[in-house]
Amino acid sequence: MLKAVRLEMLTDTPMAYIESLDAARRQTDTQWQERATAMSADASVTLVADSGVDGSGFCGLMRVVLKHPQDPGKPLQAMLISVYVAPRHRGLGLADELLNRACKAACEDLGAQHLELGVHQDNSRALAFYRRHKFETTGASRPYPQDTSKLELFMERCLPWQPTAS
Ligand SMILES: CC(C)(COP(=O)(O)OP(=O)(O)OC[C@H]1O[C@@H](n2cnc3c(N)ncnc32)[C@H](O)[C@@H]1OP(=O)(O)O)[C@@H](O)C(=O)NCCC(=O)NCCS
Repeated sequence: MLKAVRLEMLTDTPMAYIESLDAARRQTDTQWQERATAMSADASVTLVADSGVDGSGFCGLMRVVLKHPQDPGKPLQAMLISVYVAPRHRGLGLADELLNRACKAACEDLGAQHLELGVHQDNSRALAFYRRHKFETTGASRPYPQDTSKLELFMERCLPWQPTAS
């Protein structure tokens, strides 16, 4: 399932992720298996929205992982990664529900007090979405790994989690 989901995300919005579609397509089944194993072993929570009973109705995904290394000047931090809602479900509140659950999981399951993320400078829809959910740019950025002429902007919000309405 990981391979199919990841390829769907990268095909839909190639610039939204640090991994390139080409690199993902080159991965062998063994490498996908290793990635799935590593994902289940780290300190993380994966949220999958699926309208089907057999994984065929994939609608969206978000992951929160404890950040490594931690910034010693800050309380425990988690990263929000792999944010994706399928086009037919955008603007309907599913992304809000997933993010509210992701914040809750980061706080209550991982013990984090800050949630951070990285976003492409031109991903205006994602930026608006994150701002509505109380994320603010930190001022930190780095060249975007897939296109170093663009920036990856870092945003963060404090936890504990308070649900944000649609
Ligand atoms: C990012 C994502 C999860 C947000 O989910 P969504 O259902 O689209 O989010 P919403 O519709 O609730 O909110 C989007 C916001 O952008 C605004 N928006 C919609 N289309 C826009 C556009 N083309 N340009 C700028 N803003 C736009 C909406 O008005 C809304 O603003 P508001 O929060 O101030 O009301 C979803 O769009 C997605 O999966 N995108 C592709 C993958 C991606 O970019 N992931 C993020 C990686 S960092």
